[in-house]
Amino acid sequence: MGSVQLMNRIIPDALTSAPQPAEFRRVLGQYPTGVTVITAQTAAGVRAGVTVSSFNTLSLDPPLILWSLALSAPSLEVFRHTERFAVNILGEDQGDVALQFARRAEDKFAGVETVPGWSGVPLIAGAVAHLECTVYRRDPGGDHEIYIGRVERAEAIDRTPLVYMRGAFGKFSGMVANEKK
Ligand SMILES: Cc1cc2nc3c(=O)[nH]c(=O)nc-3n(C[C@H](O)[C@H](O)[C@H](O)COP(=O)(O)O)c2cc1C
Repeated sequence: MGSVQLMNRIIPDALTSAPQPAEFRRVLGQYPTGVTVITAQTAAGVRAGVTVSSFNTLSLDPPLILWSLALSAPSLEVFRHTERFAVNILGEDQGDVALQFARRAEDKFAGVETVPGWSGVPLIAGAVAHLECTVYRRDPGGDHEIYIGRVERAEAIDRTPLVYMRGAFGKFSGMVANEKK
């Protein structure tokens, strides 16, 4: 096999050693994701909400999803003490909601409309999908804790999702190809 010429590298010489956190983040920024807010509520009524892009599908049967939470996140205590959480997939007009739940604050829910879900976990209005989960597993993941959720209830709303790439929010500009023709 011949050597592949890599043009226009954003990070020069990155292939010569394992990435440091800052450049690792820049490389990962080349992978667009949606944006979610994961919400939870303890039995005592303490609510948590965290903006998360590490959400992904894991299994269709059983229906499993996963995401990861930084060990340094203050909300970790809430997620460690509840067996339920909800994934709110944000709509393209909810960049402000994403920023609000990405900042540490006394009341992260201030001004955000929510409705109680099947399990009582707050669901964010205006999201394009809600997935209500029970905690299936918690696993160590370096400086994060991995949460695997079993999806108990799920709904999708016909709106366009928010997109995150290279540290910025954006909009989806249209389908290149359809799954079914
Ligand atoms: C677009 C975006 C995606 C993020 N994804 C994650 C993630 O997957 N996991 C994580 O722990 N923090 C993630 N964060 C950072 C958290 O939202 C942020 O640290 C937040 O303050 C944590 O909530 P807490 O302070 O209530 O614990 C993300 C932030 C943004 C803006």
